[in-house]
Amino acid sequence: MRFASITQRLQGLGSDKWHVHIEGKRRLAAGEPMLMLSIGEPDFKTPQAIVDVATERLRAGRTRYSNGRGEPEVLKALAAHYTARSGRPITTEQIIFLPGTQTALFACMMALAETGDEVLMPDPFYVSYDGIIAASGASPVTIPVSPENGFHLQAEDVERAITARSRVLLLNTPGNPTGAVISAKSLAEIGEVCRQHDLWILCDEVYSSLVYQGKFASPLDNPDLADRSVVVSSVSKSHAMTGFRCGWAVGSEEFSAQLLPLSETMLFGSQPFLEDATAFALSTDLAETKIMRDTYERRARIVVEHLSQAPGFTCHMPEGGMFIMADIRRTGLSGEAFALQLMEEEKVVAMPGEAFGQAGAGHLRLSLTLEESDLAEACRRIVKFAGRLKTA
Ligand SMILES: Cc1ncc(COP(=O)(O)O)c(C=O)c1O
Repeated sequence: MRFASITQRLQGLGSDKWHVHIEGKRRLAAGEPMLMLSIGEPDFKTPQAIVDVATERLRAGRTRYSNGRGEPEVLKALAAHYTARSGRPITTEQIIFLPGTQTALFACMMALAETGDEVLMPDPFYVSYDGIIAASGASPVTIPVSPENGFHLQAEDVERAITARSRVLLLNTPGNPTGAVISAKSLAEIGEVCRQHDLWILCDEVYSSLVYQGKFASPLDNPDLADRSVVVSSVSKSHAMTGFRCGWAVGSEEFSAQLLPLSETMLFGSQPFLEDATAFALSTDLAETKIMRDTYERRARIVVEHLSQAPGFTCHMPEGGMFIMADIRRTGLSGEAFALQLMEEEKVVAMPGEAFGQAGAGHLRLSLTLEESDLAEACRRIVKFAGRLKTA
């Protein structure tokens, strides 16, 4: 039988990239004492107050169809959140509620790019980005960013990568896997290049609540860039609600109007009781969100401190997010070979940097999602393993 070309374009771009993680999980399920540092899933419980609202609304019968844009209560909470953040009125007509950042990225990319177009993004990039671009039919154009420069994207490098086919610049701040936070100044410079070449800026802000150094900045909050910016995010990481699949896209009213039929065609709405819980999460000052941020930062310091003793490792404190991207090039092993041997010999599971693009080669991504004693133990094992290798 014949399949549509999208299936070909996505070959190898789905869960294949997670093969080390999947094998680690299999071993864990089989009873091996694996220490899993391979996925960005918060180890915190969803705050009880949010669970209570979801349960209460479920019991109250908020189980019917929603609409394509989202329930009024959650749209109002999101509009208030982005209005307060940007200092400019953001209306509910600028927002579409979608099941998670992943779906929001997919929907937005389908609305902005297609076959013949090019989508630019810094490399290393989040694992699903090349799949999302491939699904749209567009071609990815990667702009390497280096650990020596804190994985920061430079406006000149964006400018150099632009061609007549460029349509979208895909950003992620704080970055996964890099931990880089894009400053307001840098965004203005990069945005100016996008303005000159009439590019969209699609910005994945799923880690925006987890900034340790510097100040979070968004293209949507820059009045000169707002009309060409689309922000996608969710409560997955900020409130440890990954399984709720509650996210959204925010752009101009024009963008949102164009996206709406796509959301209606694809989903015909999300689950009202989960949207209610998200509205509550967004409009309530919950102590847990700050605790999570502080905990990830503390864990990052622990990992960086430990791994500075690992022969062949160079690793810097991330500016935000949930990950450490360790440069292991001096060990002489690829990220893939290191991760596989580490899993075999020390039962520590980490993501090979190669899963995040060519510029991720020779790196290891470690998630900060274990409690401190386990994280420290995983680091000790990594240091031990690296010590057995002959470093250059
Ligand atoms: C950069 C980035 N974007 C998007 C996602 C998906 O987030 P969500 O759970 O909101 O779909 C993740 C999840 O790890 C991520 O790291």
